[in-house]
Amino acid sequence: MSDLDERRRLLHEIKLNGSLPVHVAIIMDGNGRWAAARGLPRFRGHTAGMKSVREATQGCIEAGVRVLTLYAFSQENWNRPRAEVAALMKLFERYVAKERQELIDEGVEVRVLGDHRRITGAPRKAMESIERATAGGKNLRLNLMISYGGRAEIVRASQRLAERVQKGELDIADIDEQAFANELYTADVPDPDLLIRTSGELRVSNFLLWQLAYTEMFITPLLWPDFTRTHHFEAIHEYQK
Ligand code: FPP
Repeated sequence: MSDLDERRRLLHEIKLNGSLPVHVAIIMDGNGRWAAARGLPRFRGHTAGMKSVREATQGCIEAGVRVLTLYAFSQENWNRPRAEVAALMKLFERYVAKERQELIDEGVEVRVLGDHRRITGAPRKAMESIERATAGGKNLRLNLMISYGGRAEIVRASQRLAERVQKGELDIADIDEQAFANELYTADVPDPDLLIRTSGELRVSNFLLWQLAYTEMFITPLLWPDFTRTHHFEAIHEYQK
């Protein structure tokens, strides 16, 4: 069976099965190893990974998934060589320029979430402009987690709650799980139903620590640039089982 036939077959089954994940989150790992295996510089792996971002986005729209959250740049990624950080920021700008119209046409609403205090200049502008341009998209909410860390997000939520208590807007007794979740970057979307991680690593890597409490996991040895729409459908299909 060709890849296209297999993809169609899986999509058909996904539609029949029901119990679709509403929210899919992905740890896109293995770009560096993909490049190294080909004797290429690391950034070429990230460039190749952009195609898989498109595939995952398209896959979610076709299957009817409502929210896709991608771990695009972690807080730990700031410790990588300066040239790689710069290349990743540049890649993000390119993504925004290249995909903007398609995202608008497909009804994708993009939100860029994380601690953006260290991001200035052109990449900062790109973030703001893609959010503005895609606001109100009805088919898919795409969260791009950039300069994101799960623990830092929890600390931030605690600070925001403490501030409200200090101002007299909130009673300590009213701090419950819902009040806490309301202060996270993901306050307006449900928790992920399915977490996909590529490149075989069995770690959460400081991703969505609060939100993943009840999430099913799909770990694949495939490296992110090799992860196609068909693989995305396989993960959803597996989840439904
Ligand atoms: C992990 O691979 C991946 C990243 C740190 C960056 C992810 C970025 C992309 C997929 C492309 C750009 C995406 C957008 C949304 C513009 P790694 O470098 O940790 O791989 P390794 O573990 O093999 O070294």
